[in-house]
Amino acid sequence: MITDSGFQPTVESIQRLHQKLNQQIQQGDWVVFAGSPPEGFSPDDYRELLKCVVENGGRLVVDTSGQYLKTAIPLRPYLIKPNEYESQELVGRTLNTVDEYVNEIKRLMAKGIKYVIVSLGDRGSLVGHNGEVFQVLPPSIEARNDTGCGDVFVGGIVAMLSRKADLEEALRFATALSASKATHTSSSSFSLEQTRQLEKQVRIIRRESVCCTLKSEKTCAKSQG
Ligand SMILES: Nc1ncnc2c1ncn2[C@@H]1O[C@H](COP(=O)(O)OP(=O)(O)OP(=O)(O)O)[C@@H](O)[C@H]1O
Ligand SMILES: [Mg+2]
Repeated sequence: MITDSGFQPTVESIQRLHQKLNQQIQQGDWVVFAGSPPEGFSPDDYRELLKCVVENGGRLVVDTSGQYLKTAIPLRPYLIKPNEYESQELVGRTLNTVDEYVNEIKRLMAKGIKYVIVSLGDRGSLVGHNGEVFQVLPPSIEARNDTGCGDVFVGGIVAMLSRKADLEEALRFATALSASKATHTSSSSFSLEQTRQLEKQVRIIRRESVCCTLKSEKTCAKSQG
């Protein structure tokens, strides 16, 4: 993995990228924008690229942070996957409980984002879709390196949803795949065989924001098993 930032793009190369997207994206295509844009690539440049995906009917997936993520929200991406830090930065406040996350996820869904996935490292993820929010608990593994787990999770969920898997199946796979990644020392390695084993241990729990705002975390977790 090369972690240095990329070269500063020229105005011409940004325009060429824009043109290419315009020509190639077709209705229903999945287009993933992941990571931080290079220096000199402004949030406005970023917005123009994302707009191009949406205007061509593409399914826009955004996995980024800060101002770039904020810029993406009004364009109503199909799927976003901020991690704990990125989601708190997005909503502008600290989120401490599952209830607080659930309510923010519902707010983001109400803005027209189809899948809102907040990843929480070894605590799994909270996933909003169709007005409902699910808590996904990952398998317990011996972690060696969790860098890249988010990238692998996004790759896994997009691979499954784009093949028309249902949400539960897609979450089980992406969660097990990223857990497998965490057991590997390299930032981009995982095992599909291990993923099949780990999938059986993934737990998915439905969270209701009404329950979670009225009752304490403990009661809520108990009542929802
Ligand atoms: N130690 C772990 N054990 C099991 N699963 C893990 C672990 N760490 C991460 N995961 C899985 O990977 C998913 C994504 O992880 P995380 O929230 O760390 O993403 P991220 O911060 O975007 O990662 P990165 O930016 O390094 O790719 C989690 O939701 C979880 O399902
Ligand atoms: Mg990430």
